[in-house]
Amino acid sequence: VTLRRKGSGRYLWACCPFHDEKTPSFSITPERGIYKCFGCGKSGDTINFIMEHDGLNYLEAIRHLAQKYGIEIIEEQQSDEQAEKQNEKDSLFIVLSFANEFFKEKLKQSDEGRSVGLSYFKERGFNEKLIDKFELGYSLNEWSALHKEAESKAYSEELLEKAGLLVVKSEDKKYDRFRGRVIFPIHNISGKVVGFGARTLKKDDKPKYLNSPESEVYHKSKILYGIYQAKHAIRKEDNCYLVEGYTDVISLHQSDIDNVVSSSGTSLTEDQVKLISRFSKNITVLFDGDAAGLKASLRGIDMILEAGMNVRTVVFPEGEDPDSYSQKLGTTAFKQFLADNTVDFIKFKAGLYADEASKDPIKKAASIKEIVGSIAKIPDPVQRAVYLKESSSLLDIEETILLAEMNKLLFKEKRQQSDIAKRQQEERGASIEAFIEQNTEKEPINNDKLISLQERESVRILINYGFNDIEEEFKLCNYLLQELEDVSFITPIYKEIVDIFKEQLAEGRVVDSQYLIANGSPEIKKEVADLVTERWEVSPNWNDKFQIFVPEEDDVLESVVLSNVLRLKFRVIQKLIADNMAKLKVATSEEEQDQLFKIHAELKKSEMEIAKALGIVVTR
Ligand code: CTP
Ligand code: MN
Repeated sequence: VTLRRKGSGRYLWACCPFHDEKTPSFSITPERGIYKCFGCGKSGDTINFIMEHDGLNYLEAIRHLAQKYGIEIIEEQQSDEQAEKQNEKDSLFIVLSFANEFFKEKLKQSDEGRSVGLSYFKERGFNEKLIDKFELGYSLNEWSALHKEAESKAYSEELLEKAGLLVVKSEDKKYDRFRGRVIFPIHNISGKVVGFGARTLKKDDKPKYLNSPESEVYHKSKILYGIYQAKHAIRKEDNCYLVEGYTDVISLHQSDIDNVVSSSGTSLTEDQVKLISRFSKNITVLFDGDAAGLKASLRGIDMILEAGMNVRTVVFPEGEDPDSYSQKLGTTAFKQFLADNTVDFIKFKAGLYADEASKDPIKKAASIKEIVGSIAKIPDPVQRAVYLKESSSLLDIEETILLAEMNKLLFKEKRQQSDIAKRQQEERGASIEAFIEQNTEKEPINNDKLISLQERESVRILINYGFNDIEEEFKLCNYLLQELEDVSFITPIYKEIVDIFKEQLAEGRVVDSQYLIANGSPEIKKEVADLVTERWEVSPNWNDKFQIFVPEEDDVLESVVLSNVLRLKFRVIQKLIADNMAKLKVATSEEEQDQLFKIHAELKKSEMEIAKALGIVVTR
């Protein structure tokens, strides 16, 4: 954009590159590096500008700017493999650019190029400006003109082959791919040459067009011929003309229509539609005037509709393509022709089938299906309704019939989708069931009973040995209560006793049996009395008689306590696992189920750890 300062203001002004205007409302604040258009509201910084202006994504914009200003970008995240790929891409760009310059030079500077290539382009009505704009070239009619030149400049053969410029049949059979043809370089969106289309100049030579093969930088499904030269015009006109051939693109530019791209003779791909939609949501497809290919091409258009684009069509007279017809009519008449013949795609298709159906009533049902099928592809329901109404009058069929037909299609699609979802859900359900089955005891153990026994043991230890020193200033009851801090007792009487221990310990006192018997409730007294009475005395003869050493509990107190803590926790965890499984059995939402799975995994982990400490093997 051409910038101007108004007086001594802070801003620089220009006509906005994003919308059409005669007086500048596009402003730049240099010290802040930002732009804003007061006409269309577009604003941003340098990188936004490049993204918006050139239709690049963030990374592409950064790379573009870096390259333009010679700033090296170090891509830290790049793996060796990626770096190598990037290197290969860069090398391909370099060799393709070299070839492009070579072909351009030969077109204008060599005798053969001028007399054969340049005169051919002139004959087709391409002026000098267009030849430069599209960087058209010529490949000499020799086996290795390019190869030799590349060799002298030390480009590797391997690279030339990868770029599709050199055909290598064997060690001593190598030749230039493009010979004696006019060259149409194919640019990517940022203007780099990625490949070539080369047209023969002889009448019956086959193929008419010889194209570069795919390479690391040339993916045919992602490239549109002419997009680089057209992108700004597509945005400005908010419409993109789609044609079939290289020459159609160039001739339209000749007719002052710059918003045009070509699919190069193949049907449009989703990626290509996405590329166009970066600049406009409107596509006008120009059909060559041969009726045979028409219906086949219509199918491809549904894909554009599906992408949410608005599609219009122009059909050319029999035997004409946009190139030939624009040359025939001249700029003004051609533009008028386009204006008069642009038809909304659905209307066009309905009209086409209506004609046919009126001649052959049997075909009517099939026609309805065809048209309704296309309408059903449109994502916007309001637009679908509008089209349905129009088609109804064009086909002379009740709107309700069309609506029913369309709903059938939409419903079918929905059902297919929901069938998939349902099947997935069923599969998930089945696997959860199997999971629960696997993780549930066949004969459930009474966890509560086992827990209660361990709680009793904890309390027994507390009452009998709470006073014992484990270390200096660290009594057994401190240790035990600390270990059981995160366990809440389920048997009311034991919970009550433990709570008394905790309360008193907080005051610095260690409870003993006497305290409990003096202060406890009748139930507590009874329980404590039971717990302090040794169940069985080791027979005094035992040791002598059987020479078996039965250790006094005092001797092994620490391991007794540890084992109690672990066993209690082990049982508590098993109960939690069982409870969790029970919840999983009735859980309905996936979210809930996933949460329970997570808990299960955590519990299993703890269970394993404790089992290991206890020397137990958990079988499940
Ligand atoms: N095409 C191709 N290879 C071929 C024939 C065609 O790649 N052997 C592609 C080219 O991109 C070509 C387009 O299909 O531009 C349309 O083909 P066609 O209509 O046959 O060619 P025109 O573009 O009309 O070319 P010309 O006017 O030079 O004959
Ligand atoms: Mn043609």
